[in-house]
Amino acid sequence: MTAARSTTAAHTTRPGSPASGARLAPAPTATAAPPLADTPLAISARGLTKSYGDKVVLDGIDLRIPEGSVFALLGPNGAGKTTTVEILSTLISADSGEARVAGHDLARDIDAVRGSIGVTGQFAAVDNLLTARENLLLMSDLRHLDRREGRRRAAELLRRFELTEAARKPVATFSGGMRRKLDLAMTLVGAPRIIFLDEPTTGLDPRSRRTMWEIIRSLVADEGVTIFLTTQYLEEADQLADRIAVLDHGKLVAEGTAEELKRLVPGSHIRVRFADETRLDAAAALFTTGTRDSEALTLHVPGDGGIPTLRAVLDVLDNASITAETLTVHTPDLDDVFLTLTGHGGAGSDVRTAAAA
Ligand SMILES: Nc1ncnc2c1ncn2[C@@H]1O[C@H](COP(=O)(O)OP(=O)(O)OP(=O)(O)O)[C@@H](O)[C@H]1O
Ligand SMILES: [Mg+2]
Repeated sequence: MTAARSTTAAHTTRPGSPASGARLAPAPTATAAPPLADTPLAISARGLTKSYGDKVVLDGIDLRIPEGSVFALLGPNGAGKTTTVEILSTLISADSGEARVAGHDLARDIDAVRGSIGVTGQFAAVDNLLTARENLLLMSDLRHLDRREGRRRAAELLRRFELTEAARKPVATFSGGMRRKLDLAMTLVGAPRIIFLDEPTTGLDPRSRRTMWEIIRSLVADEGVTIFLTTQYLEEADQLADRIAVLDHGKLVAEGTAEELKRLVPGSHIRVRFADETRLDAAAALFTTGTRDSEALTLHVPGDGGIPTLRAVLDVLDNASITAETLTVHTPDLDDVFLTLTGHGGAGSDVRTAAAA
């Protein structure tokens, strides 16, 4: 039991418990810049920076996240997503910059911030030696809930996360998905108003991912909770987030709704593939707005995927007696946005449909 308790000490990194005294350094710009507006923002930040040695991880991050919304932070591995979560949840300190979380200054009122937030880290922080129920009860003790209330809350959360059957089994026997769910349930014990979820569905199967999405949606819709999540799944951001920001090389390179971000990349096009280069050449001469990909023997013709447009393209080819092999419609999605913005693909490249073709 002692061992179990000491393993559980990892939980003290959860805000609300006596963790290390993370502080924001006094912002050098604090006097020059006007204070952050006092609007109903759950989270706001200005000029957050963080370096590890020579490596600049965050190079001036600004955020404005309204209460009751879902904000998704995207970025390639090592972009600084977890670092951002750690700073905003008081687990580590920024080198400079200022931030307010739940109306409290991160530098001056760290306990108040911790009392308002919950964090589910990138790696499940559940105690393997305890059962699911014991993990939840332990959390309610840490949160100073009274015993009865703690038991009630644990039972409710176990039911909500479909863990009732497994409630009295040691977590060591849980699958990765069950562990993730329990981890989020533990975050919810203290009924936080702002929840940080660092890659909440990584490793979950499609069904468990959808369950998690439903839980997240209901937290926002029914309880007005604010969610700050990081994810590698662009579909997840598309499904859940009101606003999305893309982090790359320490800076936010884009921010907006999924629709706004999709507008940043080249629009829909029709992709026509030919059997050989001769046909491709002939077709390219007819569609002067098209761009050709000689390697893939395809021509990309700008235009939507509506039947009239498709028919028009086929008619032009037919009239010139050019046979096409396949015809596919491509609409930009968040994957394109991500690949374009983070410099791992070009505006013309299209990993997703290329792989599917
Ligand atoms: N304690 C630390 N000491 C030194 N470097 C660190 C430390 N924590 C993070 N880093 C570095 O900071 C950078 C950002 O890391 P971070 O974990 O924030 O990335 P991430 O966007 O969450 O990546 P992932 O998608 O892989 O989770 C990385 O280069 C990482 O090596
Ligand atoms: Mg991370």
